[in-house]
Amino acid sequence: MSEVSEYPLLHSLTVFWNQIRRSLEIVRPQRIVEIGGESGALTERLTVWAQESQAHVVSVDPMPAASTRALAQRSGHLSLVEAKSPWALESVGHAEVYVIDGDHNYWTVSRELEHLFGAEAADPALAILHDVARPWARRDLYYDPSGLPPEATHEYSFRGGVLPTEQGVSDGGFRGAGAYAYAKREGGERNGVLTAVEDAMRRRQDLELIRLPCVFGVGFLFPGSADWADELRQSLAPLHELSSTRWSATGWTSTCAWWRCRTSSSANGFGSIA
Ligand SMILES: C[S@@+](CC[C@H](N)C(=O)[O-])C[C@H]1O[C@@H](n2cnc3c(N)ncnc32)[C@H](O)[C@@H]1O
Repeated sequence: MSEVSEYPLLHSLTVFWNQIRRSLEIVRPQRIVEIGGESGALTERLTVWAQESQAHVVSVDPMPAASTRALAQRSGHLSLVEAKSPWALESVGHAEVYVIDGDHNYWTVSRELEHLFGAEAADPALAILHDVARPWARRDLYYDPSGLPPEATHEYSFRGGVLPTEQGVSDGGFRGAGAYAYAKREGGERNGVLTAVEDAMRRRQDLELIRLPCVFGVGFLFPGSADWADELRQSLAPLHELSSTRWSATGWTSTCAWWRCRTSSSANGFGSIA
């Protein structure tokens, strides 16, 4: 029997909306690709922004929420691609901003970043990546490991939970209650979202990362040579690597404290804080 927390799990990128909106105002994209829309909370904000800015959002998710489908029918500024990244990206076309929050593992994120920043990539893009802090910075998560090639996955488990104090899988800790699997061990090569970002930065040395290590961590990754890079740096760099203590001062205390909990459960299939 699982325990259900009385606290909601803050896991949506919407908690970073101020920073995301600021980056959109600076980059002024005509197209935004969102990978991983889930309930559509961020999709809706992006779509409102796109409506006001004569832009367009393409949301890629194999299972969009019914409310997101309804929004796409109402708004001419949102299109849905009901498919998986990275495979879907070829048909989606170029965008100036990509929100990367789909399958949080090294193999998938590496391919997404290759699409944005590889030799074949078009104009400079901004990647806004979720999960560049614990628990998925150095540990793969797989929504559907059987849908990935065998070399893409580490040994994984759908059971147990993860804790910052343990590299393996624990009885307590954060877990997905069967909704997703994660690598049985944290760390090492080709493991986790931040590892994929760092390897992309090694391949392409003009990439810069501004990382806010809270609420699973958000990263703004961009080429330093982009026309808008200076303004983006000035706007967001003061937040780079801010500690959870500082975020707590802004009222986000519990969002940084999930890993202090010994037990947790999942009421909604996406985990919760106990
Ligand atoms: C953490 S949720 C996204 C949350 C959302 N971005 C927000 O901030 O509110 C991850 C979503 O990614 C979707 N997803 C999983 N694998 C995917 C893939 N390969 N490509 C695109 N989306 C994927 C899942 O269906 C789920 O809806």
